[in-house]
Amino acid sequence: MKHFLKLSDWSTEEIFEALDLADKLKYERKHGIPHKLLEGQTLGMIFSKSSTRTRVSFEVGIHDLGGTGLFLSSRDLQIGRGEPVEDTARVLSRYLDGIMIRTFAQKEVEDLAAYGNIPIINGLTDYCHPCQVMADLQTIREHKGDLAGKKLCFIGDGNNMANSLIVGGIKTGMTVSVACPKGHQPDTAIMEWAAATGNFTCTESVLEAAAGADAVYTDVWASMGQEGEAAERRNAFVGYQINDAVMAAANPGAMVMHCLPAHRGEEITAEIFEAHADEIFDEAENRLHAQKAIMVLCMQK
Ligand code: CP
Ligand code: NVA
Repeated sequence: MKHFLKLSDWSTEEIFEALDLADKLKYERKHGIPHKLLEGQTLGMIFSKSSTRTRVSFEVGIHDLGGTGLFLSSRDLQIGRGEPVEDTARVLSRYLDGIMIRTFAQKEVEDLAAYGNIPIINGLTDYCHPCQVMADLQTIREHKGDLAGKKLCFIGDGNNMANSLIVGGIKTGMTVSVACPKGHQPDTAIMEWAAATGNFTCTESVLEAAAGADAVYTDVWASMGQEGEAAERRNAFVGYQINDAVMAAANPGAMVMHCLPAHRGEEITAEIFEAHADEIFDEAENRLHAQKAIMVLCMQK
């Protein structure tokens, strides 16, 4: 059974297989070439948090592949009233061909996979956002031609995005630099793994991290579930913004990336956002193509 729970579970070869398939599916969609690789299959999409991109791209994606998507809000499922995930997993495995889940704890996603017997795809947890990073890798490769040897810089909160970018970037041959304030570093185990590869740095200096970068990435300072800390976080992250000074430190022609939604004037200036809107919205579009590839590789029978 192939799941997509976090990027560290997939080998470099599996990641590139998905990226190549994503490029092929993107080409076929643009040229009206049908690719109903999951004909008749049903994907359940469990959401315990809000979503625009993930929800719509999975639903459109499974439709393109000849299947059906079922939107399942955890507010309406019995899981929201305390039905154990191990029972939910066994019940849903009898009806569905795969599940995409967006929730808080990574353990809930891992438990769904452990107790169910259908493929599980992680649509974001507090720990990681692997679907987003597959789209990001596809986008960097489109714009820069190759991933090997490129430098990816992440500025801001050492959150789910940072964790997945570190793993995905390093596994595909990039060097990854992170700039974040003390107390907001990425996951310790991920940083230890990354440091051991020799292709990773984490610093408090935004300009040091951005120096020579080919892609500069940021995300919100307060993630879903941290709304109550937003004011405190706005203070903690002053200076951790993609602005003209950061772009002057990066390589000429460096891309700017954001998983969205963005807060202009906080993690990125409105001017830099608009100047790089083509890259940022290509990245958003690629959620669709990358996730179709992930669904095919996990669910094709
Ligand atoms: N980037 C992303 O996952 O967006 P949504 O929260 O809108 O799904
Ligand atoms: N770090 C953000 C990503 C949203 C796509 C969050 O978890 O809210």
